[in-house]
Amino acid sequence: MTKFQGKVAIITGAGSGMGRATAIEFAKGGATVIIADLNENNAKQTQKLLEEYNVPTKIFVGDISKTEKVQEIVNGTVEEFKTIDIVANIAGMPMTFTPIEEVEEEFWDQQMAVNVKASYLLSKYALPYLKNNQSKGSIVNVASVATVRPRPGLTAYCASKGAIVALTRSLALEVANTGVRVNVINPGPAETPMLEKFYGNMDPVEGRKLYEDSVPIGRLCYPEDIAKMIAYLSSDDASFITGSVVNVDGGRGL
Ligand SMILES: NC(=O)c1ccc[n+]([C@@H]2O[C@H](COP(=O)([O-])OP(=O)(O)OC[C@H]3O[C@@H](n4cnc5c(N)ncnc54)[C@H](O)[C@@H]3O)[C@@H](O)[C@H]2O)c1
Repeated sequence: MTKFQGKVAIITGAGSGMGRATAIEFAKGGATVIIADLNENNAKQTQKLLEEYNVPTKIFVGDISKTEKVQEIVNGTVEEFKTIDIVANIAGMPMTFTPIEEVEEEFWDQQMAVNVKASYLLSKYALPYLKNNQSKGSIVNVASVATVRPRPGLTAYCASKGAIVALTRSLALEVANTGVRVNVINPGPAETPMLEKFYGNMDPVEGRKLYEDSVPIGRLCYPEDIAKMIAYLSSDDASFITGSVVNVDGGRGL
């Protein structure tokens, strides 16, 4: 019996980067994998990659910062697979270095919607199922090492990621006596399509080097580094871990 056999995992942002790697990690463990992403083609590519693991999968396409979409994901999952054991809130929205005087209000609101509100919505609607199953559920959120080592020009992004850390710690305490665990990971700069969106118009070689040089271990974070930590935190091996903020960052946060 594999680690996640019989478990149902909702993974947001599963169409790319860390979300895709996490979908693969759960599929390897035998989980039913729910792929939630804005990008239909990428979601389908992830689903294709999971075929070799022979696990049930389902795609939900749409914006996870919208209540109706999250209700559709949760209700659709329970209708077909009866329960929800694991939620991995990975989808996120980057920002390009911008002084705060130039950050539009609409952009700020969008950062908060995708990077914070989506996790609130997934928690709100999935918790009744996470609480009421035998395995006792797990929620893992993804913030950023930028919450402890910010960079100038990323204030909206850093504020949203700081909020998700606070949300995690608060919710972990709120639901601790139900057996549901809630943790958050701070990835370091990572080898995913998102990275270049941060440095925007900078020369790509210089932009990448700026990030690489900032990591004491001397390389970018691989999506699999995050996927493995999400799988661990979601597993019974981590049954005594809740409210934790785990840096997976090659020492960038030091
Ligand atoms: N890449 C980095 O350097 C880095 C560093 C620290 C933290 N993070 C965080 O890690 C997480 C994963 O990022 P990644 O690097 O894998 O990025 P990525 O761009 O490869 O993947 C993000 C995925 O989220 C999806 N998504 C975005 N907004 C969505 C929405 N509203 N509804 C549904 N899906 C949506 C995208 O379509 C995409 O598939 C994000 O929360 C990001 O903020 C990334």
